[in-house]
Amino acid sequence: MSVLKIKDVSKIFANGTVRAVDNFSLDVADGELVCLLGPSGSGKSTLLRMVGGFERPTSGLMIINGEDITHVPPEKRPTGMVFQSHALWTHMNVFKNLAFGLKLRKVAPDEIKRRVEGVLDLVGLGGYGTRHVAQLSGGQQQRVALARSLVLEPKILLLDEPFASLDQHLRERLREEVRDIQQRLKITTLFVTHGQDEALSMADRIVVMRDGKTEQIDRPDIVYREPQTPFVAGFIGTMNLIEGTVSNGIFSKAGYSTPLPVSDGPAILAVRPEALDLTVANDNAQGKVHRVTDYGTHGLVDLELLDSTRVKAMVSHPDLFRAGQGVRLAPKAIAAYRDNAVIHRA
Ligand SMILES: Nc1ncnc2c1ncn2[C@@H]1O[C@H](COP(=O)(O)OP(=O)(O)OP(=O)(O)O)[C@@H](O)[C@H]1O
Ligand SMILES: [Mg+2]
Repeated sequence: MSVLKIKDVSKIFANGTVRAVDNFSLDVADGELVCLLGPSGSGKSTLLRMVGGFERPTSGLMIINGEDITHVPPEKRPTGMVFQSHALWTHMNVFKNLAFGLKLRKVAPDEIKRRVEGVLDLVGLGGYGTRHVAQLSGGQQQRVALARSLVLEPKILLLDEPFASLDQHLRERLREEVRDIQQRLKITTLFVTHGQDEALSMADRIVVMRDGKTEQIDRPDIVYREPQTPFVAGFIGTMNLIEGTVSNGIFSKAGYSTPLPVSDGPAILAVRPEALDLTVANDNAQGKVHRVTDYGTHGLVDLELLDSTRVKAMVSHPDLFRAGQGVRLAPKAIAAYRDNAVIHRA
């Protein structure tokens, strides 16, 4: 059974012009971690805030464990939220930050002590109880914010870009820690991010959002390998999206052509850089090398088709290519889109 059911939920802001969330539905299973992934302004925070009860839907239903909680206030919901900007109480020490919510719930002092210490151990901050929040690093503060939600033992954990302000290295470490904790406690989690790496590495399922709507819901590997729309294709990982036309089973764009067994008409060809082989060509070149970047483990060739459409190809021997050289393109795996849907995959 789904623990959380979001049914046809919309949020239109007061002035009536912004449809932040547009007829959105999602079922989250017990213990599942679902990532909401989308560009800035796509409605991720608004949706999460509605699940937490901090924003009221204009229409639709929120159901947790079979109970309609659409109009239940945040403190009466079995949810715990870590906000986009984690507002810790800087005038309190770590222990008091965590104990606050428990006190409100009239938990006995010795029980509070036990739970706070347990959860501090869990997030790797055992012994930090008496520290003031201002005396902690950014990553430690982030963990206190997480601990403050966990200590209330919510059925559903809501995380809104909890690592956004941290450097890449720390973000990757915390990401793994949160995933470990989430799996150990088997806590149902909705995680908002606009980082695709974060979504791909943490999620059981990813919801790709655009303009308040769902663009695709799938397992990370499926979203990566079989994006349903050009938007998803362009948003997850690096993808070459080449707009051209198909005539008699041949796709063409500015001197580049490749067989594409679909009906005549416009099409967007999608090829990942790692699925595009390049060969140096003096005659019959389909493109020209613009720049070669050597990353050590592999190289990336930026090239231009004859009309200066940019295309990227990953190569194992970057030293074989030089700026200005003519190349031919041989895609190993392609997808094609028309009218915002997949029309071919090979
Ligand atoms: N209180 C509000 N009043 C009016 N419009 C709002 C309000 N809150 C959000 N919006 C609008 O709703 C849309 C969705 O905002 P939201 O904060 O949910 O986006 P987001 O996906 O979380 O973006 P980001 O990645 O930048 O955090 C945006 O167009 C935003 O301007
Ligand atoms: Mg947001």
